[in-house]
Amino acid sequence: MGSYTRPRQVNFMIPSRLIAPSILSANFSRLGQEVAEVVAAGADWIHVDVMDGQFVPNITMGPIVVEWLRPATQASLDVHLMIVSPEVYIPEFIRAGAHSISFHAEATPHIHRTLQVIRQADVKAGVALNPSTPLNVLEYVLDDLDFVLIMTVNPGFGGQKFIPATVAKVQELRSWLDRTGHDEVLIEVDGGINPVTAGEMSEAGANVFVAGSAIFGDSDRARRIADIRSAILSGQTAARQG
Ligand code: DX5
Ligand code: ZN
Repeated sequence: MGSYTRPRQVNFMIPSRLIAPSILSANFSRLGQEVAEVVAAGADWIHVDVMDGQFVPNITMGPIVVEWLRPATQASLDVHLMIVSPEVYIPEFIRAGAHSISFHAEATPHIHRTLQVIRQADVKAGVALNPSTPLNVLEYVLDDLDFVLIMTVNPGFGGQKFIPATVAKVQELRSWLDRTGHDEVLIEVDGGINPVTAGEMSEAGANVFVAGSAIFGDSDRARRIADIRSAILSGQTAARQG
């Protein structure tokens, strides 16, 4: 099935560009206000980083945070699971109100089944790939994906330096998706995203831009979001012209 090529859509639509602040870098003593502030400043999704201390060397939050945020914001809650055996906890995140859920290809032998469980619940399903994981693990699940999360740092911590080799990875993924009739699959980039790297990744074909420290690390979140947005738009224009 992976090599099956769907006919290209006649009505070609340029995929959207979305900004997803990661609450990993937010002040948790005032999480509701922090989220409200970035949403008012134009954030599209709120990115929730779930870490278990096993898949990555850090522990963060569980479904209860999604459950509390759900009634507190209109924004879509985008759950990024950096945990082993993600299939065990996915039903809880679905119940808690996640709008999209990604899990790591490296963390489960059951990528196809796990994508199906998420989609059957009407939640957007994504596979996340570490920087060193090749794209071909997705070959036979392209029809089952709503988005792919490309890690642009090693998962585990906010505030790390962007890995430049991931730009070519996103370019390759975008052209593979387009070539095989999967142009509606979104590419999310996560880690070290700031106005400079967001511009590069937008030009490479990324659609969803996760930013933690670049947004929450600055007291003027609205300005940071506006800077990232304008870099994304310039990158998109450059991609169209190129
Ligand atoms: C890293 C997380 C990221 C992190 C990004 O493991 O998946 O979402 O919050 O943080 P910055 O934008 O600071 O690199
Ligand atoms: Zn993340």
